[in-house]
Amino acid sequence: MKKHVSLMLLLISFSGISQQKSIDQKVNELLAKMTLEEKIGQLNQYTGDHAVTGPLTMNPNKKEEIKAGKIGSMLNVLGANYTRGYQELAMQSRLKIPLLFGLDVVHGYKTTFPLPLAEAASWDLDAIELGARIAARESAASGIHWTFAPMVDISRDPRWGRVMEGAGEDTYLGSKIAYARVKGFQGNKLGDLNSVMACVKHFAAYGAAIGGRDYNSVDVSERALWETYLPPFKSALDAGAATFMNSFNDINGIPATGNKHIQRDILKGKWKFDGFVVSDWGSIGEMINHGYSKDKKEAAYQAITAGSDMDMESNSYRYSLAELVKEGKVSESLIDDAVKRILRKKFEMGLFDDPYRYSDAKRQQKELNNPENTKAAREIAAKSIVLLKNEANTLPLSKATKTIGFIGPMVKLKRANHGFWAIDLKDVDSSYIVSQWEGLERKVGKNTKLLYAKGCGITSPDKSGFKEAVDVANQSDVVILSVGERHDMSGEAKSRSSIGLPGVQEELIKELQKTGKPIVVLINAGRPLVFNWTADNMPTIVYTWWLGSEAGNAISDVLFGDYNPSGKLPMTFPRTEGQIPIYYNHMSTGRPAKNEDDKNYVSAYIDLQNSPKFAFGYGLSYTTFKYSDLKLSKNTMAKNDKLEVSVTITNTGKRLGEEVVQLYLRDKVASIVRPVKELKDFRKIKLSAGESKTIVFTIDDEKLAFYHENLEFKSESGSFDVMVGASSEDIRLKGEFELSE
Ligand code: GLC
Repeated sequence: MKKHVSLMLLLISFSGISQQKSIDQKVNELLAKMTLEEKIGQLNQYTGDHAVTGPLTMNPNKKEEIKAGKIGSMLNVLGANYTRGYQELAMQSRLKIPLLFGLDVVHGYKTTFPLPLAEAASWDLDAIELGARIAARESAASGIHWTFAPMVDISRDPRWGRVMEGAGEDTYLGSKIAYARVKGFQGNKLGDLNSVMACVKHFAAYGAAIGGRDYNSVDVSERALWETYLPPFKSALDAGAATFMNSFNDINGIPATGNKHIQRDILKGKWKFDGFVVSDWGSIGEMINHGYSKDKKEAAYQAITAGSDMDMESNSYRYSLAELVKEGKVSESLIDDAVKRILRKKFEMGLFDDPYRYSDAKRQQKELNNPENTKAAREIAAKSIVLLKNEANTLPLSKATKTIGFIGPMVKLKRANHGFWAIDLKDVDSSYIVSQWEGLERKVGKNTKLLYAKGCGITSPDKSGFKEAVDVANQSDVVILSVGERHDMSGEAKSRSSIGLPGVQEELIKELQKTGKPIVVLINAGRPLVFNWTADNMPTIVYTWWLGSEAGNAISDVLFGDYNPSGKLPMTFPRTEGQIPIYYNHMSTGRPAKNEDDKNYVSAYIDLQNSPKFAFGYGLSYTTFKYSDLKLSKNTMAKNDKLEVSVTITNTGKRLGEEVVQLYLRDKVASIVRPVKELKDFRKIKLSAGESKTIVFTIDDEKLAFYHENLEFKSESGSFDVMVGASSEDIRLKGEFELSE
């Protein structure tokens, strides 16, 4: 009897599997029904009219083309009802293949989080993942299937406006953050209603644009490409990233969009990526401007051959691919491969089961900017704030302060707190965004008098507001002064040749300093700025970036000590633009400067100190931390072995605080010169006053390996320095070990 039952169960389970056709079977069956035009339709993406995020190709009859199955995806169409409307058009097409809706949900949808560069300053991977998770929930509830994020471009040049969108200059930190963001956006499984597809961008090395000028050429060695720029993409892929977006720039003379080496050899070949690649906005057609394609037809040929699967807004595939196939210049199997990659994601997202499953107005209502989301946004924003100076211990402020003067052009701004790459939701007013002024109002009690003066504009030369500002300062016990660059002075196509405080803001600071009042300077920006006079003459400076919809609350939480600042800079701050590129993990050179002022036949500028203004990994707290008892588990480590580095951290101050303990290594002699130090691990720990914790870092061969001339990734025996510190320049404890064969 038992045997029969088990046989029956086996048959039932088998029939279950056979009913559950694999996604690949479904893709292949659908592909077999498709005409060449319908296949090419899936490779075509147009923008909706919600936002314009690039030069428009103006396609007037999109709706007709959707019904004809000539468009596979739309970007910049959002909202449960609006996406449903477009999807209904797609359901009128012959094969009813649903549209994919993509959007730049880079740091939040309605609830917005700090700019990604600011979030990177939190060094809090759980917080970063949570921010992406909430962004996914809110956008997925609004009809979005696919976010064009995370941007994982490493950059060492703050003149480049898009540094605001990434995780800064360091490959290790950037790789960890890339992984966390993909996990946040995609959740446990694609197809969950709270998950969206991630899109890792911009592949590749877009952040190495010469001169920090957006869209400019990139010229890096293959070895540098692998060592510095590719690892965050691989990390994002390891996290399961569903899609990639290529970049506008040429890499060593070949535009990324037409670059077979990076898209086919590396991404789809060596890394076995089975998702799809979308071109960046118009980048296929822009290969004509590059001088790489003579016309859109050649651009289409080069792009599809190089592995660009979907054409965003350039019309190249739409009007040329069919002809290329009919002429035998492009094999239909290349088209089929791209179509299958895209259809597979549509099946995984459950869109063939229910094309409207993400366009749910009720869910949208529940999800957007709910209290759980705003609470998280406020906490993540506070963690992203970096305390640069607090010499007179002016901070934290007392809630018993009688009169506070809040001065500056940023104080009452609302939308600006979103920063760049925010989604300006049409039918939503910005009242939910907490301005810096509102944050202060909500923080202090009725016994504290608040005074306000704008003082000056952000870029205006007009100083007529100075007098009012000085008057307000003279009536105040403490002044908070909020300055910076405008929120849209960083972002795409926002490179700046000089990255100082615009307008007359630094002159306002000088005027207010003369009052002798305690002044807290807040600096709002999407990049490292140069503000030497302020940095040298003002004792209290807080870098507040652009912190998102809870900015005001987060800033006040930090200013009044309800949150003890813990942020650490993810990018080096230069003294001047002339110092760029300046980054912590530089090579030694044959003539390294011995100290800050050494100019004697060494690698230095004769007119500038050798160090940056603020170092990578730098940030202060309202408490202090002692580093002690550095121990290495062994002095010599074999290649297949591991070595533990333990260190004890003590909170030697009077209040709870968090410290980002950083582990740097230096390979002292190798067949490829190695950086003077490289971040290889970090821990963000929370300690009560007086509390100590011992943390253990594990060093394995992976952390010692590097790319050789032949691109082999391996370590070399020899001596290594171990450095543990509170920043790349504040090394507290040192050790060394030998790596043996
Ligand atoms: C833009 C950006 C890219 C963005 C895309 C769609 O030009 O380069 O990051 O995702 O177009 O808006």
